Amino acid sequence: MIRPLFHATIFFGICLITVGLLYVYKLTDSLHLARIFARRLNMTRQDNPRLPPNYTEQLMTEREAHFNMTNIWKMRNITGKYFNPKLHIIYFSDFHIFMQKCDPHTFTLRNSHPRRPRPCNVVRTPIKHYRTCAVVGNGGILLHSSCGAEIDAHEFVIRSNLPPVHDYRRDVGSRTDLTIVNVKRLVQITEALQTFNSTLRKDMLARLGQSPGMIFSYSFAFIGSKARYRMQIVDTAIKNNHLSTITAFPSRSFLDSKRLYIELVGKHWSFASTGLNTFALASTFCDRISMYGFYPMSRYQNKRVPYHYYDKLPPSGRHDFDEEYAMLRQMDADGVIKHVVGKCNIHSENTIRSGKNVNVTKPTRRRS
Ligand SMILES: *[C@@H]1O[C@H](CO)[C@@H](O)[C@H](O)[C@H]1NC(C)=O
Ligand SMILES: *[C@@H]1O[C@H](CO)[C@@H](O)[C@H](O)[C@H]1NC(C)=O
Ligand SMILES: *[C@@H]1O[C@H](CO)[C@@H](O)[C@H](O)[C@H]1NC(C)=O
Ligand SMILES: *[C@@H]1O[C@H](CO)[C@@H](O)[C@H](O)[C@H]1NC(C)=O
Ligand SMILES: *[C@@H]1O[C@H](CO)[C@@H](O)[C@H](O)[C@H]1NC(C)=O
Ligand SMILES: *[C@@H]1O[C@H](CO)[C@@H](O)[C@H](O)[C@H]1NC(C)=O
Repeated sequence: MIRPLFHATIFFGICLITVGLLYVYKLTDSLHLARIFARRLNMTRQDNPRLPPNYTEQLMTEREAHFNMTNIWKMRNITGKYFNPKLHIIYFSDFHIFMQKCDPHTFTLRNSHPRRPRPCNVVRTPIKHYRTCAVVGNGGILLHSSCGAEIDAHEFVIRSNLPPVHDYRRDVGSRTDLTIVNVKRLVQITEALQTFNSTLRKDMLARLGQSPGMIFSYSFAFIGSKARYRMQIVDTAIKNNHLSTITAFPSRSFLDSKRLYIELVGKHWSFASTGLNTFALASTFCDRISMYGFYPMSRYQNKRVPYHYYDKLPPSGRHDFDEEYAMLRQMDADGVIKHVVGKCNIHSENTIRSGKNVNVTKPTRRRS
């Protein structure tokens, strides 16, 4: 009678010890992992310039003096007639209800009285209001600029065409809150997401997932174009891979805003760059905008400047970059934006000094 009980006790004891050993093993294992992870984190932190803890605050306080709010509001009064995040960046998930309930041309409710049209209030924008924004162009001027930390210190970071950032983060920062792509880029992205080459596909997914919560949107005519199907492909890939990227669409093309530049600078640009349109849009929801990576010339301080910071492609001939550059310098002089060219430095703002008499003669045209 005693014997089976004795055996059972022994067996139970062995079980208990095994479970205990397994638990200890798992604990050390995860401790080990945690240590490796901590070391990784340490490494990435050391990649960045050493920042004082109140860096963001310090930078923004220093910079505040540069801006002239009177001029900023004046500018917003003009850009606000052409751009509005409620019209230009709408949740893609609201696309169906938009087509069903609203007239895309007038942005009014279909069932409202033609004489008293009501605005299309059934769609939402992920965009809020921000105190400081960085609008980051893809110009080669950013290489070796060390502007990364400064860019990341803004409340909202906007980029164009989903550029690579991780390998260049010292110079261009690592955050993206909004990226706006053009036709060519959207085609490239959907092709990469649909290719059988798993390396290319994974790279594109990684790029889309690099900045958690990033809004991904488009700048041209969306409704009735293939862009709508392409955005669906991107949206599906994002959902299937559990990325936190938000897809959005414009109810009208950024190019419908050509008159803005006539009103603003008296220029009739047939094709303002995505960067300039992005600034105009941002000015409607950002108080203080700093612009990085917008420099069209081929040389800066006797050094060659590549067109993009991430590739060796020659410049695109479509835009009036020289005049756009002159406009940015003028807006900087007026305190409407901070236009950063050259190196960023934590303790001194080592950028082109701006005066009231900026010489806006045509800069030397770059040869491609
Ligand atoms: C992280 O770096 C600091 C200073 O460089 C060092 O004191 C600390 O031990 C490092 N931590 C780990 C987990 O490597
Ligand atoms: C930031 O820290 C430095 C030294 O720690 C201090 O002198 C400075 O006043 C601080 N700046 C702000 C804006 O808090
Ligand atoms: C802002 O700019 C306007 C016009 O250029 C000027 O009259 C005004 O004094 C400026 N305000 C500040 C605070 O510098
Ligand atoms: C902007 O427009 C509003 C109303 O349209 C007007 O009250 C305000 O004075 C304008 N601000 C500037 C700086 O022009
Ligand atoms: C996938 O694309 C990469 C980059 O273009 C290329 O190096 C690689 O050979 C391709 N792999 C296959 C299986 O085609
Ligand atoms: C700009 O510079 C050029 C050459 O240095 C000079 O001829 C021109 O008068 C200047 N323009 C202005 C507006 O200062």
